[in-house]
Amino acid sequence: MKELIFATGNLGKLKEVSKIFSNHDIKILSLKDFEDIPEIIEDGLTFEENAFIKAEVIFNLFGKPVISDDSGLSIEQLNGEPGVISARYAGENCTYEDNNNKVINALKDFPEPHKAKFVSCALYFNGNEKIISIGELNGEIIKNGSGSNGFGYDPIFIPDGFTKTLAEMTTEEKNEISHRGIAFRSLRNKLIERKIL
Ligand code: IMP
Repeated sequence: MKELIFATGNLGKLKEVSKIFSNHDIKILSLKDFEDIPEIIEDGLTFEENAFIKAEVIFNLFGKPVISDDSGLSIEQLNGEPGVISARYAGENCTYEDNNNKVINALKDFPEPHKAKFVSCALYFNGNEKIISIGELNGEIIKNGSGSNGFGYDPIFIPDGFTKTLAEMTTEEKNEISHRGIAFRSLRNKLIERKIL
């Protein structure tokens, strides 16, 4: 069976993405299947650069085709922040709650609605060929977070067309509309077209 390494240690992401590839004769490994992975410094200026940094490090270590993603939140009134620093917006080693509080505080003098979008860049790399797909999910940031599912900024983000936050949705509901779901379904279709899957 063909193998693809998903360059993530996030089991939530692995579950979500494995489902998208589940009808294909391919085994998705993750960084949890390997030991001694060095820390990967994601210092790119775009989601695509960061996704490629992860994919290239892992390809160079194991020599197998890799998929990776980089994602984050972009808020219109904050000129696209937190963007590529979404994971560490409130500082290194901060919690999701610290990040959410920083966003709410940064928006306190702006009028509602606080339009925002999640963006995900999904990428395939096999040593010479690089294929990418972008997925976006539009919505708005709310001050009073709600819900306990998901992760990150989910409790303070209501997708357009919904009245609940991402953290109030089931995993299945979220996956159907999420930026990462859109990006990886599109990437999967490109891999099928090119007969890689
Ligand atoms: P990365 O793709 O793991 O580097 O994600 C960067 C950061 O973006 C995460 O730590 C979260 O703070 C945020 N983020 C990305 N995707 C989501 C999502 O689906 N929900 C909430 N936060 C997200």
